[in-house]
Amino acid sequence: MPPGPYPYPIIGNILELGHKPYESLFHLSKKHGPIMTLKFGSLTSIVISSPEIAKEALTKHDLAFSNRQVLDITRALDHHRVSMVWSPVCDHWRTLRKLCSTHIFSPQKLESTSKLRHKKVQELVNFVGTWCSKGSSDEEEAIDIGKVVFITIMNSLSNTLFSMDFAHYYGGASDDEIQHDFKEIIEGILDDAGQINLVDLFPVLGFLDPQGLRGRCEDSFKRLLELFDDIFDERVRMKASSEKGFERTTCCDVLDSFLDLLKENNSQDLNRHCLLHLFLDLFIAGLETTTSTVEWAMAELMHNPNEMKKAKEELLQILGRDENPKESDISKLHYLEAIIKETLRLHSPIPILFHKSKFDVEINGFKVPKDAEVLVNLWAIGRDSSIWSDPNSFVPERFQECKMDTNNKGNNNFEFIPFGSGRRMCPAISLVHRIVPLILATLLHCFDWKIVDDKKPQELDMSEEYGLTVRRAQPLLLVPIIQTD
Ligand code: HEM
Repeated sequence: MPPGPYPYPIIGNILELGHKPYESLFHLSKKHGPIMTLKFGSLTSIVISSPEIAKEALTKHDLAFSNRQVLDITRALDHHRVSMVWSPVCDHWRTLRKLCSTHIFSPQKLESTSKLRHKKVQELVNFVGTWCSKGSSDEEEAIDIGKVVFITIMNSLSNTLFSMDFAHYYGGASDDEIQHDFKEIIEGILDDAGQINLVDLFPVLGFLDPQGLRGRCEDSFKRLLELFDDIFDERVRMKASSEKGFERTTCCDVLDSFLDLLKENNSQDLNRHCLLHLFLDLFIAGLETTTSTVEWAMAELMHNPNEMKKAKEELLQILGRDENPKESDISKLHYLEAIIKETLRLHSPIPILFHKSKFDVEINGFKVPKDAEVLVNLWAIGRDSSIWSDPNSFVPERFQECKMDTNNKGNNNFEFIPFGSGRRMCPAISLVHRIVPLILATLLHCFDWKIVDDKKPQELDMSEEYGLTVRRAQPLLLVPIIQTD
């Protein structure tokens, strides 16, 4: 077994984890090495903190490590049994991945939904534009960047799936309370998933749910599933009337394609229940990760005015003053691309990959036992000074100069794998590569920004908070200014 810190009886190494497990594990790896064993209650965890060993684990032993250690909270409403994120690699999981790659993330589908994303980003521009002329005190003028970006991404996704907006910038426009609470619900689920749950460490406590995490998660899942269920019902009704010639449906979205598929093939792997849980997975996995990437990128640029200036200059040079950014411009914006990569290196939204060993495996000369949790600490790899010079500084140029293949495909350079690698890698990379640069470029090109309360760049709070994803501890409050020149 790999070396590691001394495990105390019963609790093992729980006390070593702290509030930011990825950071504590990074410090432990400096002492015990790039592959360590830790014990958490009855669970054995193997923690990998180097690109070389991550590569061996996720390529040579991809199949052995392709399942996940199921977190107890995901057992709420039996989500783990049908979920794409939590299912083991099996025919059901393959069916869901294929559904997503064909009906949502294929190049053709992404091209056909591009107009829709531009529309949602234009709504963001309109909102920020009207905000600029509002209010007199800084407090009134500041925008919570995380909130408005979340709404933009959520509406892009909800329109792709259901042809409807889930939220409105001004609030109050929707009468359904859940849609106002969407961000809080998703954050709540991720916060609970990021907590140390005694049931994961001592499964015998499962029936007690002593911290109430599974119960809380069940409530959140229920609220989201009920929303999807109502949308599903309404669409089935619409389609039935349209077939009878009473109404015409103009939707041509993912839900429509899924309903057509269900008509042809309603099986154990593909049925209404699975699809509702798939929507749940997509919103939980997609919203917070993508939002926090844009929010961190904006925060880093506000914190580093020289880099902000370079980014704006590039946009001006490529687009001119009057053009708003489009997805087709992204491939020309090399500095922007480097900014996003540097943001993902420093603030990988998912700091730790969660996998599990299917059988005994030998890796780097050590034994990884069957059923051990296998964690790849992306945060540690991103901050390793033997890989990155001056690792804690925001230097986008390093990605322009470096010889590594950092195309995020996750199969070459394991120094930079923010989307994971192998069978379980993120299925939405191509969508992320469109929407993140589009929103970021738009916010930078259409407005100037200042920090609320006239704070100086170095005064901006850059602390992190962990809840399965790494988000900003403090909201990023910025005041937009319409450019006059
Ligand atoms: C910046 C944005 C994003 C980042 C950095 C990111 C990163 C990741 C990572 C690291 C994994 C786990 C890979 C592994 O275990 O090896 C993952 C899985 C996943 N992601 Fe993403 N993701 C992002 C956006 C999205 C979006 C927008 C969606 C959907 C709309 C999405 C859906 C999923 C799903 C469903 C999985 C589970 C795949 C499986 O287990 O088979 N992600 N993502």
